[in-house]
Amino acid sequence: MKKRKTIHDIARMKDSAEKITVLTAYDYPFAQLMDQAGIDIILVGDSVGSVFSGYDNTLPVTMDEMIYHTRPVVRASAQALVVADMPFMSYQIDQSDARRNAGRLIKEAGAQAVKLEGGVNIAATIAAITAIDIPVMAHVGLTPQSIHRMGGFKVQGRQEAQAQQILADAKAVEEAGAFAVVLEGVPASLAAQISAALGIPTIGIGAGPDCDGQVLVIHDILGLCDKYSPKFVKRFADARQTISDGINAYIGEVKGGTFPADEHSFK
Ligand code: KIV
Repeated sequence: MKKRKTIHDIARMKDSAEKITVLTAYDYPFAQLMDQAGIDIILVGDSVGSVFSGYDNTLPVTMDEMIYHTRPVVRASAQALVVADMPFMSYQIDQSDARRNAGRLIKEAGAQAVKLEGGVNIAATIAAITAIDIPVMAHVGLTPQSIHRMGGFKVQGRQEAQAQQILADAKAVEEAGAFAVVLEGVPASLAAQISAALGIPTIGIGAGPDCDGQVLVIHDILGLCDKYSPKFVKRFADARQTISDGINAYIGEVKGGTFPADEHSFK
């Protein structure tokens, strides 16, 4: 039986300069496919709100939804570390609420770590969660739960003062005990500087090639979304076309009376 990766394996990958691969999954079949392919970390992202539930952003996602989507991902995977996102308002109110909700993702859903967004402003909460032995992946730069403050999904850290704040955020989450940090939507040069400055791995998304690992949303890399695709997304397959072809073929054969054939029927 394969052994599931731990946060210590992920730390060692930075030390040995092995790139860390991360993809999102929200269900059993995708999690099984990426686990069997050898992905290092599966993130049950609150991006489930956008790519699965069809919301405009991640803000409506609830704790119960995150638990529902994390369970099949844990069941489907044997070797990847499973990290579950803490949705908006599950950790911002106070630390006991944050610990209770982080604990639910571990205890009820079976995740091995949680992820939450924020830097200096949320460092005390990260420390409170890691103090009860729940590993935390942090997330700084473009933080989608802050969409209304940012005024949209915009690259962060282009101005020097903002870049310094993001560097301070990354250092603060490392100091608070995070085992890794997602750097989203920041200039490649800033991500390279942060990756060199931190002892913990950085996982980039729209943050250039010099992070210790990369994360993308599975629906984006497979071309499953019909919505706008950001510059940092690379489409590695056209699953939308493949699925659409299959659905059209099914409809055509049922309407045309060629399915089911004898081989699909019982004697
Ligand atoms: O919710 C999510 O999927 C994420 C990743 C894109 C980093 O936070």
